[in-house]
Amino acid sequence: MSRSLVICKPDAVERRLTGEILRRLEAKGLRLVAVELRTIDDDTARRHYAEHEAKSFFSDLVAFIIRSPSLLVVVEGPGDDTWEVVRTLIGPTDPATAPPGTIRGDFGLEVTENLAHGSDSRQSAQREIDIFFPSLG
Ligand code: RTP
Ligand code: MG
Repeated sequence: MSRSLVICKPDAVERRLTGEILRRLEAKGLRLVAVELRTIDDDTARRHYAEHEAKSFFSDLVAFIIRSPSLLVVVEGPGDDTWEVVRTLIGPTDPATAPPGTIRGDFGLEVTENLAHGSDSRQSAQREIDIFFPSLG
């Protein structure tokens, strides 16, 4: 079994798409371990996206993710690669070119407002779950 962090980003909450995103995760067979509506604070956003600190889009990314509540989700699946299962459902970073059938491909058009975050490795999943749900440790 392994776990991964999913964030239904502010655009997904604002557009009432969190139910659809949770439905897709559950329909795939993943189990919900934790779900919480929370406005991410500036420090936590910077920590979560630390790998992008030097990038030109970093300030836009942080401003976007803290602008209104996100739905924070921890999911669990049977294999070692739950993070990868989740990223396949979410689709590639740019919704404009993400394939239909993926969350980004079906619902998005802009690279910042791309609906959902999924951890990008087992190590990232553990690091991010520790940031947002330390009590699950
Ligand atoms: P995420 O971390 O949010 O799940 O997205 P990701 O793995 O698909 O993409 P990542 O490379 O980690 O980038 C994080 C977020 O930064 C924004 N971005 N903007 N303007 C740009 O070229 C650009 N590139 C990335 C996206 O919103 C992406 O989700
Ligand atoms: Mg990423």
